[in-house]
Amino acid sequence: MDAREMKIKAAAAALEYVEDGMRLGIGTGSTAEEFVRLLAEKVAAGFRIEGVPTSERTARLCLELGVSLKSLDELPELDLTIDGADEVDGQLRLIKGGGGALLREKIVAAASKRMIVIADETKVVDVLGAFKLPIEVNPFGQVATRIAIEKVASRLGLSGDITVRQSHDGAFLTDGGHLILDASFGRIPDADALAGELNAIPGVVEHGLFIGIASLAIIAGPQGARTLTAS
Ligand code: A5P
Repeated sequence: MDAREMKIKAAAAALEYVEDGMRLGIGTGSTAEEFVRLLAEKVAAGFRIEGVPTSERTARLCLELGVSLKSLDELPELDLTIDGADEVDGQLRLIKGGGGALLREKIVAAASKRMIVIADETKVVDVLGAFKLPIEVNPFGQVATRIAIEKVASRLGLSGDITVRQSHDGAFLTDGGHLILDASFGRIPDADALAGELNAIPGVVEHGLFIGIASLAIIAGPQGARTLTAS
C-alpha cells in the first residue's frame, strides 16, 4: 500500500464517524483532501453536512467538489472536526501546520465537540519534534519574536534553527497574513511547557502544538486502519 492509499484508508475510516446533519470542521493537507473527496461522493449521493473549512485551500476544494460551506461565524459550534497531522504522540498531542493552516485549524478544532486526526503510520512518534514546529507570528517585530522564542527554547533545553518559511515568491503568508517560523528542535520532551511559554510571547499568533484537543486518531498502515486514544 502506498502513502496515498494509506491516507485514503484513514479518511474512509473517519467518514464512518460523520453523521447526517452534522456541523463539520474540515481540515487541511493531503490527508484531509482525501477525506474531502470521499465526503463529496457521499454528499453527491444525498448525505447532508454543514462544513466549515480550516483554510482557503480546503474551501476551494470543497466548493469545486460540491461540498457547500459555512463560515465559523455562521456556525460557531461544531460537532466534529476531522484533520490531518504532521506528528502524533501516544497522548494524542500533535504537531500541525506543515501546510501553514495551523491557526484556523486550531480555532476550528477548539470550536468542535470532538476532533479526530487522520494520518498514516509514519506520523506516529514517541516524542514530538522531529518535524519542524511551525510557529505563526505577526510580521511586525518578527526578529524580536524569534529572539523571544529562542530564549524560551533555551530555558527548556531546546536548540535548533528557526527559519522563516518561504514560498516560491518570497516569505510564505498564511490565510491570516502572518509569517510561519519553522523551529528545528529535533525532540520536544516537554511539549506542554513549550506550548504554554510560546502562548505568552506577544508576537506569536499561534503555534503548531495541539495539546488536549484531539480525542481520537485514525492511523492507517499497510495492514489497514487502527484507532489511537490518549494513553
Ligand atoms: C496543515 O496546516 C497541517 O496542519 C496538516 O494537517 C498537516 O500538515 C498534515 O498534512 P498532510 O496530511 O499533507 O501530511
